[in-house]
Amino acid sequence: MIIAIDGPAASGKGTIARRLAAHFGLPHLDTGLLYRGVGRIMLDRGFPLDNVEIATAIAENLDIADLAGEALRTREAGEAASVVAAHAPVRQALLDLQRAFAAQTGGAVLDGRDIGTVIAPDAPAKLFVTASPEERARRRFRELVGRGELADEEAFYAAVLADIAKRDARDSGRSSAPLIIAPDALVLDTTTLGIEEAFAAALAAVESAR
Ligand code: C5P
Repeated sequence: MIIAIDGPAASGKGTIARRLAAHFGLPHLDTGLLYRGVGRIMLDRGFPLDNVEIATAIAENLDIADLAGEALRTREAGEAASVVAAHAPVRQALLDLQRAFAAQTGGAVLDGRDIGTVIAPDAPAKLFVTASPEERARRRFRELVGRGELADEEAFYAAVLADIAKRDARDSGRSSAPLIIAPDALVLDTTTLGIEEAFAAALAAVESAR
């Protein structure tokens, strides 16, 4: 059973994906980490993010086992990820690895932006998890503050909201695998839902798709 979960930044898709994976005992891949990993290496080595050749070479050599740590979760890394993710050759370089993960015996849960459309278009269970930009900014704000990324509170919330809007526009507007709702995906709006309610709705959707 492949469970494909897509949606914009801070929509709750990661939490739902982790919970579904734990519930069904399936391996889980947060595919945003792949792009964050490429973006992080570009930043750390001082390569310009628009250098497609270097970003592609980094993507080709990326090892899933290296994708851990707080440095991948920062605003900076998320922003860099969305820039390198718009390069078609970078996406191509990360395709086989994601398809192999999805093809594991017994199934897998993958979350990202193009799982139901490009990586696993035949997945029986597809969810598109979303929430209003303001609610997503509040969630991301709380998460970043919890990790100690705080300047002036009000200005920081405004900056996070602006990041979200910019990222939505970039992810939806790119020509290579843009963020779109797969025609057969169930749309789950988590704006007014708590984690338990969102998970229950996701679980019900997956159960009925099996
Ligand atoms: O989900 P997360 O915020 O970690 O993703 C970071 C960025 O990586 C996204 O803004 C998006 O540009 C890119 N991404 C993507 N395709 C995926 C997962 C993430 O383009 N499957």
